[in-house]
Amino acid sequence: MNERDTEHMLAELKEKENYDATDDFKSADLILINTCSVREKPVAKLFSELGIFNKKKKDGAKIGVCGCTASHLGKEIIKRAPYVSFVLGARNISKITEVLHKPKAVEIDINYDESEFAFKDFRSSKYKAYINISIGCDKSCTFCIVPKTRGDEISIPMNLIIDEANRAVSLGAKEIFLLGQNVNNYGRRFSGNHEKVNFTRLLQELSKIDGLKRIRFTSPHPFHMDDEFIEEFASNPKICKSMHMPLQSGSTKVLKDMKRGYTKEWFLNRVQKLREMVPDVSISTDIIVAFPGESDADFEDTIDVMNQANFEQVFSFKYSPRPQTEAEFFSDVIDSDTASVRLTSIQELHIKQLDKNNASKIDNTYTVYFEELYNDGFISGRSDNNTVIKVKGSEELLGEFKDVKIISIGRTVLTGEIIN
Ligand code: 5AD
Ligand code: SF4
Repeated sequence: MNERDTEHMLAELKEKENYDATDDFKSADLILINTCSVREKPVAKLFSELGIFNKKKKDGAKIGVCGCTASHLGKEIIKRAPYVSFVLGARNISKITEVLHKPKAVEIDINYDESEFAFKDFRSSKYKAYINISIGCDKSCTFCIVPKTRGDEISIPMNLIIDEANRAVSLGAKEIFLLGQNVNNYGRRFSGNHEKVNFTRLLQELSKIDGLKRIRFTSPHPFHMDDEFIEEFASNPKICKSMHMPLQSGSTKVLKDMKRGYTKEWFLNRVQKLREMVPDVSISTDIIVAFPGESDADFEDTIDVMNQANFEQVFSFKYSPRPQTEAEFFSDVIDSDTASVRLTSIQELHIKQLDKNNASKIDNTYTVYFEELYNDGFISGRSDNNTVIKVKGSEELLGEFKDVKIISIGRTVLTGEIIN
């Protein structure tokens, strides 16, 4: 989501102010930091990086802070780092060229202006197009700051999404990547009087686009994974067979304290249905350890779900208390040593499962969409089920689909050879 926001700001700056991107911040006229506030660490990192940029930047260069931490800290950022020229919240990024000319501007209101939905067609990759389908989040997970920084959940009208996808495909993208905090809750609320459609219908309409070969999306919410959604996922050949299912915890009690809206059993039942209907599916997840009140038995439930679900990818985090969330005030805080031990257990189990899953892929054949050229004579892409695969090859493979047989296994990238 932040990458897409960055593409949009860059496009606005290019079009209206003649800016271009540079890799060398010391020569930049403008340094933009697009921030995350989901955990405490990136927020602390913001202030240390700001100090470095301020010391090393070119004379007269401006520094702007954008995104979720901008929304959440607002003018506090300028108080702590007075050399910052402007602060632009996650819901206000379309104002980038306005704040550029206003000294010490702070734009962090959550607004519902539909003009905020129309993102520029400029993209950092020619091959894949990120497309927002909704903004904000209506859930109230007790650990999460996102509803405060990105506001209420609003679905972007289907006709705008389809137009954007058509334009992306006509510019060469064969894959689109739909973005939203809860994509499978799409259609819950529009800002105007738009046709009520759900996510399944949106997927069906998008798949009709000629020249579009692959559709990915993130993040779906386990609570909204009804049969209709899973059946569309299974049967629509354009939908890539990789599903993100953020578990957060395997304990029904902790899930309740987190207000996630599902139980351990519901989650496992959805995994089972997915694995039955789509044998080649790859499932990724997010897990938070040491949420307040998480007992050893609760933690064992998370390990149990990992053992049963056999996730292809696990992103795991220690719980980080966030301001303006309910859990900030929960008692029974877990000490940091216990949190570290639990995080290590999750990561070790994940690596074990990953190595085993990868080993079973040797000699398999996958259709790879090539999108990234390495500088060592290799080129990489992803299989339908999101495995990163590289082969020896050069740029004429970019944007092409090829059948690739796996010849050796690495942890994050597999190596193959083109057979077709
Ligand atoms: N502490 C730790 N992890 C968090 N996440 C969200 N909020 C927190 C928090 N307060 C994680 C969740 C979410 C992912 C994007 O970040 O696992 O799915
Ligand atoms: Fe945060 Fe929960 Fe919304 Fe995801 S669904 S963004 S975890 S509040």
